[in-house]
Amino acid sequence: MNLGAYIYKTRMMWCRLWTTAYNKVCFVLNGVRYGRNFHSVGMLFVRNAGVISLGDNVNINSCARSNPVGGIKTTLFTCVGASIKVGNNVGMSNVTIYSRERVTIEDNVVIGAGSKIFDTDFHSVVADFRLNGNTNVFFAPVTLKEGCFVGADCIILKGVTIGREAVVGAGSVVTKSIPDGQIWAGCPARYIKDVPITQ
Ligand SMILES: CC(C)(COP(=O)(O)OP(=O)(O)OC[C@H]1O[C@@H](n2cnc3c(N)ncnc32)[C@H](O)[C@@H]1OP(=O)(O)O)[C@@H](O)C(=O)NCCC(=O)NCCS
Repeated sequence: MNLGAYIYKTRMMWCRLWTTAYNKVCFVLNGVRYGRNFHSVGMLFVRNAGVISLGDNVNINSCARSNPVGGIKTTLFTCVGASIKVGNNVGMSNVTIYSRERVTIEDNVVIGAGSKIFDTDFHSVVADFRLNGNTNVFFAPVTLKEGCFVGADCIILKGVTIGREAVVGAGSVVTKSIPDGQIWAGCPARYIKDVPITQ
């Protein structure tokens, strides 16, 4: 291992130790429930006006150095009455999850660096509503089912369910639900092929 790699590894080790502790304090202050063996590298941005819960063995990277693949920070944001539920053995890097109603991430899901999950459009598509109180904003729950894998820099939009063990290609914008065991990619994401049984 060269010196640069050694320094990087050592910094990340220390960063993991103190930011995991920092984030746990932040969780308590923000009413976030977390399970056993939570680890993180980098400080999360958390705003919880609803319910946020993380299962066991959740790993979150939340700083540019934590995952050289991309992204800057992990954000968990719930509006009043909304929820983000993350299952067991979930990993994510510099991901933004914004919940107006409900975002569910089941067990064994991997979410690639810099991806974003929004269950709302944030603003009405009608200018009049947008400019006068921002009413008539569409929102619908998002679910990432067990064992699915979202590539880097994807955007998952409102109302989408990503199927069990499905895969979303890097840089995709997902506007429609993806059935179990399929690979989808592109903007908007389209069916590419089935996940092979063996590789
Ligand atoms: C989706 C993915 C898994 C497919 O890999 P693969 O099985 O080797 O598939 P191929 O490279 O043979 O591509 C099959 C087809 O899908 C297209 N495709 C693959 N990935 C794509 C993507 N991200 N966006 C758009 N199209 C894509 C290819 O162009 C090809 O199209 P064609 O049949 O018309 O030539 C891979 O391309 C990918 O995006 N991996 C995610 C990497 C990543 O972000 N990791 C997380 C880092 S934190």
